Amino acid sequence: MWAVGATWDGERPVTVIDWARPALDLGAELAAAAPWPAVRGTRWTQGRVGTGTTPAAHLVTVSYVLGELTEADRAAVVDTALAAGGEDPAAAIVVTEPGTPEGYARVLAARDRLLAAGLHVAAPCPHDGRCPIEPGRDWCHFSARVARSSLHRQVKGGSLPYEDEKFAYVAATRAAPARVPARVLRRPQIRKGQVILDLCEPGETLRRATVTKRQGPLYRAARDIDWGDAWPPAEDAADAGPGTPG
Ligand SMILES: C[S@@+](CC[C@H](N)C(=O)[O-])C[C@H]1O[C@@H](n2cnc3c(N)ncnc32)[C@H](O)[C@@H]1O
Repeated sequence: MWAVGATWDGERPVTVIDWARPALDLGAELAAAAPWPAVRGTRWTQGRVGTGTTPAAHLVTVSYVLGELTEADRAAVVDTALAAGGEDPAAAIVVTEPGTPEGYARVLAARDRLLAAGLHVAAPCPHDGRCPIEPGRDWCHFSARVARSSLHRQVKGGSLPYEDEKFAYVAATRAAPARVPARVLRRPQIRKGQVILDLCEPGETLRRATVTKRQGPLYRAARDIDWGDAWPPAEDAADAGPGTPG
């Protein structure tokens, strides 16, 4: 919801569903002070996810909730999200979980269900195929830096003014999406004269690419690239290939 407010101008109908009244009340209190009109007209609906009807939506987010459900309920939630998206080709479903091996496994199960329903993966994967990460060895996740208030620091017993929240996610659409050529799966390693990128590529492959200073604009782009970004970035896509195998 916050991401919607920060991304698009203007007001739009938003519905939040949660079964806990205190969670809804806290959300409403935070939204009342939000800088975006988009979140102010929100309908706060008390309900059990995966049951009842959900209004048709262009964007359905299922955020940090699968981990609190049984396996059967997880599937039911994804089906409810699919029903809300309906046949709208542009409707997007985004499932987000903590960036742990378990969170990744739940995202992977949701991804399978979305694909089985005929949707395509828009992100993070650059393909609709099998995830090439070997189960038990690694897990696909990303990181977002979140500012910590002094209260936040006190509650968490931390001293830094931020924390890096790790998350796993999948975004899917009914229409075939514009895909990134490859996705950066880890924080890039910047070495003297080279940047090492761990990439997920079409063809269900993982590849480590080394971009060197000799590659000029591509090297400069690699120095600015971040974990979770597309590689190569759109404006450099035509300049050169995606690095040399390392
Ligand atoms: C970790 S919080 C995430 C809240 C919010 N979605 C977000 O991303 O900030 C999980 C929420 O799921 C709600 N929840 C858990 N099981 C639920 C269910 N079966 N139906 C509806 N809400 C549920 C809890 O009340 C809690 O507010």
